[in-house]
Amino acid sequence: MLKRTHTCGELTLDQVGQSVILNGWVDAWRDFGGLVFIDVRDRYGLTQCVFEPEVGAELQNAARELRNEYVVAIKGVVAPRLPGKENPRLKTGAIEVRSNALEVLNATPTPPFEIQGAEANEELRLKYRYLDLRRPALQQVFVLRHRMAQLMRNTLSDQNFLEVETPILGRSTPEGARDFLVPSRVHAGHFYALPQSPQLYKQLLMVAGFDRYFQIARCFRDEDLRANRQPEFTQLDVEMSFVEDQDVMTAMEPVVASIAKEFSGEVLSLPLPRLDYRDCMERFGNDRPDLRFGMELTDVADIAAETEFKVFQQARENGQRIRGICAPKGGERYTRKDLDALTEYAASFGAKGLVWIKVEADTLTGPTAKFFPPGPLQTKLRERFDAKPGDLILIVADSQAVTSQALSNLRIRLGAELKLYDPRSFHYSWVVRFPLLHWDAEEGRWAAEHHPFTMPLAEDLPLLESDPGKVRAQAYDLVINGEECGGGTIRCHDHNIQSQIFSLLGLTTEQAEEKFGFLLSALRNGAPPHGGIALGLDRMVMLYAGLTNIRDCIAFPKTAKGTDLMTGAPGQVDPRQLRELHVRLSE
Ligand code: AMO
Ligand code: AMP
Repeated sequence: MLKRTHTCGELTLDQVGQSVILNGWVDAWRDFGGLVFIDVRDRYGLTQCVFEPEVGAELQNAARELRNEYVVAIKGVVAPRLPGKENPRLKTGAIEVRSNALEVLNATPTPPFEIQGAEANEELRLKYRYLDLRRPALQQVFVLRHRMAQLMRNTLSDQNFLEVETPILGRSTPEGARDFLVPSRVHAGHFYALPQSPQLYKQLLMVAGFDRYFQIARCFRDEDLRANRQPEFTQLDVEMSFVEDQDVMTAMEPVVASIAKEFSGEVLSLPLPRLDYRDCMERFGNDRPDLRFGMELTDVADIAAETEFKVFQQARENGQRIRGICAPKGGERYTRKDLDALTEYAASFGAKGLVWIKVEADTLTGPTAKFFPPGPLQTKLRERFDAKPGDLILIVADSQAVTSQALSNLRIRLGAELKLYDPRSFHYSWVVRFPLLHWDAEEGRWAAEHHPFTMPLAEDLPLLESDPGKVRAQAYDLVINGEECGGGTIRCHDHNIQSQIFSLLGLTTEQAEEKFGFLLSALRNGAPPHGGIALGLDRMVMLYAGLTNIRDCIAFPKTAKGTDLMTGAPGQVDPRQLRELHVRLSE
């Protein structure tokens, strides 16, 4: 085999005159009768090779027979391209390789889609993922991913964190999703659970005295997939001893700052802004605010109540909220039809309607504008929203949850549609002091907002018995551009508080002992105060690579239905294998 002397991305005028060998894939071929051009591609780039008449008919014909994606070795001499034929977009665009030997390392049939062509449909690309992954743009994502993981490792190692691996086959750790289970052959009827996160093991490492742990850990969650969720994904998982919530955030900020510097060229000013969960819900209607633009939610209940509008009056009487947003230049931009679409959009989040008011210099227009006639009420409305001529005011009257959902989603949609921010900019914040619990109406019990191992705020401890829904947690989420990129908490290192929380979550003492006895016992055996966090590596890669689907950040991802179209996983198994595992299918 002709072994490469150079990659396809490195030859420049500096190597002119040198004899070189390239290995790679045929990216394109052009036959101009006298001259045969072959572009060879590898991970590093693309180089143009030319077979001239002087090399003889046999070699030229061999080159003519090459097709896209053949694996080849080409030997030749580096030469400057003819004047006017340079390609400034290619690193190797100043040269070509005047070829004098060719070896076909592997021929291939016509590929099912053009590697560098217009994007083929995603199913086909996932079925032939190894071909899809040859796309240079996609390969760049994995270069970024590698560099990001490396940066995380280095920044944490520099702060004395130890990387420790934790088991994949273990006990179920609840993070709010279903478990993937693995039946045991040796213990009939017993199952391992794949980790939803290394949560309990990392806490046990703290009890063991490891003090500062991290791991780039694979997590498995059987939940409905979305554009930012995969059933297996990777976390930068971190845990620290003798810390309070501020310490964990402070330890993570250099990691975030180094990533920002490397991938967006920005020098972050630390500490990052911290938003109280309640303020955040009030101002943005959700717990992962996109802070690249304003357009905050504004309460107008007092002004609305003064109008003759029935909808507002009833809402007020029913103790509901009346809130709105003001979209800069939205009045100029949106037509009647657009506004109907926005009303429908709001309805998809439960809003029973959407009041829209176009703001003009000396009047308001829209079906409900008449309720704000010129005068003090209208002035108050304009002032409350700081509305300028051309703006659009949108108001929803409903429960706290519906106004939050409808308006936060409208805000995000309008922010993008009205181009209120630079899509390549980044905005970072911590959202802190989440509620510890939420009421799960389906199950009729309290459920952990983050996970059951979270420590309540000290000042809220007395509420655990009297008003559990009001208890705030020592919890913090890292939010970048409206995406939840990380979350963590200070843990219950006190077994009494931990037991109390298990019981609030509906576990009897026996159940808690059966499921988490090892944890409770560890907490009794000298557990230091500790806490930690996990960042979603895939989501961070997605953000900095400018992608909108997490699938493009994972080498071999699953479809929205959880299947791997390439290998056919999940697949059926041999009945003998099932028997060995003591598993019988129900149909
Ligand atoms: P949490 O469940 O918040 O916390 O997860 C931490 C981060 O992991 C990412 N993430 C996901 N990414 C892709 N696909 C998924 N299905 C998925 N689920 C979560 C998110 C999220 O912010 N053990 C705790 C951490 C701790 O308390 O220390 C945990 O797993 O970016
Ligand atoms: P109606 O009185 O139901 O015909 O509604 C009159 C206008 O008020 C329409 O533009 C509705 O979209 C809007 N509307 C109705 N209910 C609400 C609500 N709960 N919040 C905001 N706007 C509403």
